[in-house]
Amino acid sequence: METPDWKNLSFGYVKTDYNIRCYYKDGKWSKPEVSTSEYIDVHMAATGLHYGQEAFEGLKAYMGKDGKIKLFRWEENAKRLISSAEGIKMAPVPVELFRDVIFQTVNMNKRFVPPYGSGATLYIRPLLYGSGAEVGVKPSSEYTFIVFVTPVGPYFKGGVKPVNMLICRDVDRAAPLGTGIFKVGGNYAASLRAQIAAKDRGYSTSIFLDAREKKYIDECGPANFFGIKENTYITPKSESILKSITNMSLLSLAEKIGMKTERRRVPVEELSSFSEAGACGTAAVISPIGKIFDPEKNITYEYCKDGNPGQFTMKLYNKLVGIQNGDETDEFGWMTEVA
Ligand code: PLP
Ligand code: COI
Repeated sequence: METPDWKNLSFGYVKTDYNIRCYYKDGKWSKPEVSTSEYIDVHMAATGLHYGQEAFEGLKAYMGKDGKIKLFRWEENAKRLISSAEGIKMAPVPVELFRDVIFQTVNMNKRFVPPYGSGATLYIRPLLYGSGAEVGVKPSSEYTFIVFVTPVGPYFKGGVKPVNMLICRDVDRAAPLGTGIFKVGGNYAASLRAQIAAKDRGYSTSIFLDAREKKYIDECGPANFFGIKENTYITPKSESILKSITNMSLLSLAEKIGMKTERRRVPVEELSSFSEAGACGTAAVISPIGKIFDPEKNITYEYCKDGNPGQFTMKLYNKLVGIQNGDETDEFGWMTEVA
């Protein structure tokens, strides 16, 4: 294959050499099977197709200056996939199986790990779905776990350049007691109407509010939200958002650099009191928010008047990306080498 143009990669699919598949049947997981095919054979009555029994994960492999490939906090993704599986009654993938499969998939596709300094990374996509046939609404007794990788660039165009977001009141991605805390495909399907409406109006993504009262910030499309007020990093606590591993890490890093942190409900009006705001996630990394428009109130909240991200956002970004690329000491022990 030709080498991808690492510097101009977007967040999209690029074919790599191998993926790995495991099958759950009769109460146990098969040994991992390596495949070169990009396709899967799916039973037409699989619960993953009909009843949304599907969950996925997203994490990245980074090439360090020293030529070592490392993964960021993979155990957290393993635990979250177990929680998502339990949330929609699928067979969980044991942590050791998750580890073996993701590390082997990265290892077999090493030539696709973007070079140090390119700004691109190797995105790892573990996928779990109900593959057994059912017609009644019930959990499958068979599951398929697949891991593929693809080299990616920034999720939001412009990388660390500020992006604009639109507050959404006419679509909910998840209900308070629904599946918002799980990383299941249905949440993303539910978010698409809002996503397209935001894009059509020229925004990078939509900001969802709490579904019960529409008073509090939930999250920004496929990323968590944070705001900065004076020396404090503030991020929403909600019963319907994904617990972002990036956000958990930023909370630790913020404290490490002497900031205060708060995880609590964030009323929409509070947007006017933040000096900086951003979206964070594996794909989004930290995407600084330039403007947020609230169409109902006809208010624009602005955070980067000079076109540049604020100082706290940049400090956190440099610290996080520094650890991931091996430029900063990994003082929390977040990185694991792919041997
Ligand atoms: N929120 C949603 C809805 C997401 O899809 C993601 C991406 O995984 C995140 C937040 C960020 O989570 P993480 O930092 O673990 O990637
Ligand atoms: C991630 O950040 O890994 C995500 O899963 C976001 C995404 C759905 C593209």
